[in-house]
Amino acid sequence: MYVRTFSLRDFRSWDAVSVDLAPGPTVLLGRNGHGKTNLLEALGYLSTLTSHRVSGDAPLLRAGTSRALVSAHVVNAGRELALDVEINDGKSNRARINQSPTRRPREILGILRTVLFAPEDLSLVRGDPAERRRFLDELLTTRIPRLGGVRADYDKVLRQRSALLKTAGGALRRGARSADGAGALATLDVWDGHLASHGAELLAARIALLHDLAPHVVAAYRSIAPESRPALLRYRSSLGDALSPEFADPARRPEPGDRETIETAFVAALAAARTREIERGVCLVGPHRDELELILGDQPAKGYASHGESWSYALSLRLGAFELLRSDGTDPVLMLDDVFAELDRRRRTALAAVAESAEQVLITAAVPEDVPPELAGVRFSVRAEDTDRGRLSVLTRTEVEEVRP
Ligand SMILES: Nc1ncnc2c1ncn2[C@@H]1O[C@H](COP(=O)(O)OP(=O)(O)OP(=O)(O)O)[C@@H](O)[C@H]1O
Ligand SMILES: [Mg+2]
Repeated sequence: MYVRTFSLRDFRSWDAVSVDLAPGPTVLLGRNGHGKTNLLEALGYLSTLTSHRVSGDAPLLRAGTSRALVSAHVVNAGRELALDVEINDGKSNRARINQSPTRRPREILGILRTVLFAPEDLSLVRGDPAERRRFLDELLTTRIPRLGGVRADYDKVLRQRSALLKTAGGALRRGARSADGAGALATLDVWDGHLASHGAELLAARIALLHDLAPHVVAAYRSIAPESRPALLRYRSSLGDALSPEFADPARRPEPGDRETIETAFVAALAAARTREIERGVCLVGPHRDELELILGDQPAKGYASHGESWSYALSLRLGAFELLRSDGTDPVLMLDDVFAELDRRRRTALAAVAESAEQVLITAAVPEDVPPELAGVRFSVRAEDTDRGRLSVLTRTEVEEVRP
């Protein structure tokens, strides 16, 4: 797929911009802090409804404004769709598909498929487990948009159940036979059922995703860092002994009954953890506590891998995601944010080869020399200017180069 037009209003440093894009490589050149990443972040938002840099939406609104608009025409196998997302301060966001309002913004998930590789991705390897869970879940909702709803339901149940654990803990500390303590425990049984049901669906989907994804990541790592130890991925579930260890192995083929098996294990794990959960007032079991283990040789990459190895691993996760979405039938739009300067020659070449084969790739760089020559496509310059409405970014098409002689 590719993005044919892209426009922004009051997003970060952009007050208004509208640009026509073509398949193949597009390079956005500009000095540090002039607004290049903001453009990719906006397109990423249209794809995942989150920013790769911040967890809340507030920083995305241009300073002093209360509404941002991100729009694009996306062409997939000859079929075009218009997408709009309105990011609102203090009220809910809104989305439109072909000008028709959707009931919820998440209905647009899966339409624009992107893979963004950015310097922040080092935290996929070195950061908290939440980073890796987010990586899995974003890829999951891109492939199976319905799971966006399952995840939202799970998060809602999780919040309510966590609040209840705190109440139950407080009540039981005051006296085990108190009426509200007993009431909280009875309600907890109901919430356990909801948590296990949504959680099992999410967990089964993650495990199935990893089965499809892992071979692509392992192959990407081998081609980027052939002299390094082999990469290996494993899913570590917080259900512990309740779930058979074979589920951790991506080589295990998912089966239609997995969801039920996991749900049964989930209920058992919740029962086993209940006393500890009430003592601590937190939900200790479920996909929100799981870990995607990234292993190099026989060690976890986190805490052991070198800087170069960590970079290669992060890049392999993104390239693996790209190859997986491609194998589903359509190339996602590839976005490479200022990454070539960080890579050595071999890794540059490996990344350039994938980027060159992508239906569309958007690349940001501070200077043209950072972009491999085979990716010199359409070029834009990004420049920030001081105006009476503050510092605003401006996009200009600078030149068109032949991709190859
Ligand atoms: N909400 C906002 N409103 C106005 N300006 C913003 C907002 N958020 C960020 N900016 C401005 O955007 C600029 C950063 O833009 P961006 O991250 O896109 O830069 P960049 O071109 O990618 O730089 P680098 O090459 O260093 O990565 C900063 O100058 C910042 O002040
Ligand atoms: Mg940047």
